Amino acid sequence: MQNIIFIAPPAAGKGTISECLKNDFGYQHLSTGDMLREAIKEQSPMGLMVKDIMNEGKLVSDEIVIDLISDKLGEDGKPFILDGFPRTLNQALKLTELLNNLNKDYIVIYLDLPKEEALKRIAGRLNCSCGKTYNTLINSLKPKKEGICDICGNTLIKRDDDNQESFLVRYNSYLENTKPIINYYLSNKRLIKIDAAKDKQSVYQDIIEVIK
Ligand code: AP5
Repeated sequence: MQNIIFIAPPAAGKGTISECLKNDFGYQHLSTGDMLREAIKEQSPMGLMVKDIMNEGKLVSDEIVIDLISDKLGEDGKPFILDGFPRTLNQALKLTELLNNLNKDYIVIYLDLPKEEALKRIAGRLNCSCGKTYNTLINSLKPKKEGICDICGNTLIKRDDDNQESFLVRYNSYLENTKPIINYYLSNKRLIKIDAAKDKQSVYQDIIEVIK
C-alpha cells in the first residue's frame, strides 16, 4: 500500500479515515496532534510548553513537530499515514528530505471540506483514548451508548480545542499555511483531491480507490 500524507482543514476526517486504514490495511498512523495531546496528558516538559498554544488553536513550532515525526517515521517498516503533518511549507520541505533519506515514496491526499461543514463536525465530535472518533450530530457516527466508546467501553471526551473560537484560529492558520503546501505538492504532481463532504463510507471508498 502507498504511504499517505493527508492535507486538510481541521475536522475534515483525517483521524477517522486513518483509523479505518490502520484497522483494514495495517497502516502506521502518525498524528502529530495525537502525539502532542499525549505529551500534554503525561505532563512532559514539551507537553507543558505546548498546552496553551494548542488550546488556542495556534501552531506549535516547526522544530517540535519535526522532531516528533523524525523519531517515528519508518520506525516499524509498515506503510504510514501522516495526519496533521506537514502544516507549513518549512515542514513539507523537511519531510521531503526525511523521506528521500529513507527512500520512501508517497502520495498526498487533500481532503477538501467547506468551512461551515468543518465547524459542524467540530460541534458534534467526541473522542476515545483508544483512538476511535464519534459524532453526536450524525446518526451513523454516534456511539451506541451515549458518552461511551463502542469498542473499549471508556468514557468519551470532548477535546479542549473543540470550540468555535479555537476552530476559527485553526481554520485561519490552515488557510494561511496550507495553500503554499498544496502548491508545492501540486508542482511535484503528488496531490490528489478528495471530496471530504461526502459521508464517511463514501470518502473511505474514494481513498481506497486512490491508494490501491
Ligand atoms: P490536530 O489534532 O491535527 O487537529 P486538526 O487538524 O484540527 O484536525 P482534527 O483532529 O480536528 O480533525 P480530523 O481531520 O482528524 O477529523 P476527525 O476524523 O476527528 O492538531 C491539533 C493541534 O495540534 C493544532 O491546532 C496545533 O496546535 C497542533 N499541531 C498538530 N500538528 C501540528 C503541526 N504539524 N505543526 C504545528 N502544530 C501542530 O473528524 C472530525 C469529526 O467529523 C468527528 O466527529 C468525525 O466523527 C466526523 N466525521 C469524520 N468524517 C466524516 C464524514 N465523512 N462525514 C461526517 N462526519 C465525519
